[in-house]
Amino acid sequence: MKRKVLSTILAASMVATMAVGCGGGNSAQTDAPAADAGTEAPAAADQEGGKIGVAMPTQSSERWIKDGDNMKEKLEALGYEVDLQYAEDDVQMQVSQIENMIASGSQCLVIAAVDAGALTTVEAQAKEAGIPIIAYDRLLMDTDAVSYYASFDNEGVGTAIGEYVKTAKDLDAAREAGESYTIEFFMGSPDDNNAVLLHKGVMGVLQEYLDDGTLVCKTGRTSFEDTCILRWSQETAQQWCENYLTGFYADEDLDIACTAFDGFAYGVKAALQGAGYTADNWPLITGQDAELMACKNILDGTQTASIFKNTSLLADKCVTMVEAVMKGAEPEINDTTTYDNNVVVVPSYLCTPISVDKDNLQEVVVEEAKYYTAEELGL
Ligand code: BGC
Repeated sequence: MKRKVLSTILAASMVATMAVGCGGGNSAQTDAPAADAGTEAPAAADQEGGKIGVAMPTQSSERWIKDGDNMKEKLEALGYEVDLQYAEDDVQMQVSQIENMIASGSQCLVIAAVDAGALTTVEAQAKEAGIPIIAYDRLLMDTDAVSYYASFDNEGVGTAIGEYVKTAKDLDAAREAGESYTIEFFMGSPDDNNAVLLHKGVMGVLQEYLDDGTLVCKTGRTSFEDTCILRWSQETAQQWCENYLTGFYADEDLDIACTAFDGFAYGVKAALQGAGYTADNWPLITGQDAELMACKNILDGTQTASIFKNTSLLADKCVTMVEAVMKGAEPEINDTTTYDNNVVVVPSYLCTPISVDKDNLQEVVVEEAKYYTAEELGL
């Protein structure tokens, strides 16, 4: 198989068509039934303040630390007391933390689940106690106890990753020329609905190139079942990549590592370095979250792209949902059909993800969003 000359410039149109941050999408105040998902008015309704339990999955990646900090700061600014807990990817620990939040008087719960389907019992306890629940970033599955969902357009994240690969490698030109690229996939956790949607979005763009041989996946692992990595483990991604490089790719370079998470991109980077890859044959590597380390890697060329998700804007949207369930107001919703958790369709606000690479990183992340300073990025 011949490798084609890299086309590294992301078409300006791709960036231009993406709305910036949470303002994007067909946002509209809807008359969707608020808190229709089974919650009663909380005990503290109409009172000032109150206690909010915020359950986050892990501190092992930067985004969740930012999410927790943002939520705490914004809720406290509104006069709420905040019980913020991290479960360090331990399902049972998260169940216990939420039980404690209920027992210690939280009047609303904000949950980013470790395992989206493992909280049904404790969610039922909250509902029984009249405590509304808001799903944060990850949809809570198999429960009628969730009132609202604040997240990003998760299939859109996958579409943006697929479009990035398609544009950066100019897959249509490769197809015309009868050339091909090798590609491997590192997808998210099977207990996270976001990961399923992301894979769908990626394949919505790339499947046709796999089908006609423009993209060649030498392991044959393209389905979600074959490429999902439990609990988004960086170590597993690295292990897989090491195995691929010494096996399937012993005699031919890997051209594209299509990963769903910056943590996977770090694992892939380590595996590539271990296998002796250099700037001359370094593959295109995608990621998600635009973590600070990922941004630095993008600038030094060891990661190609990421998806910027402004957690501060997400927290703003989630806080409006907390206010709504606490005060009987209606939060802004922009999706009432997509997020079916197998029991109810959860009214959602979806923020817009933005694809970033070295060409637009400074503009999007530093200048527009003021998410990192130029100094933090070493600019
Ligand atoms: C989030 C991603 C994050 C991943 C791993 C997903 O649920 O949507 O932004 O990269 O979890 O933490």
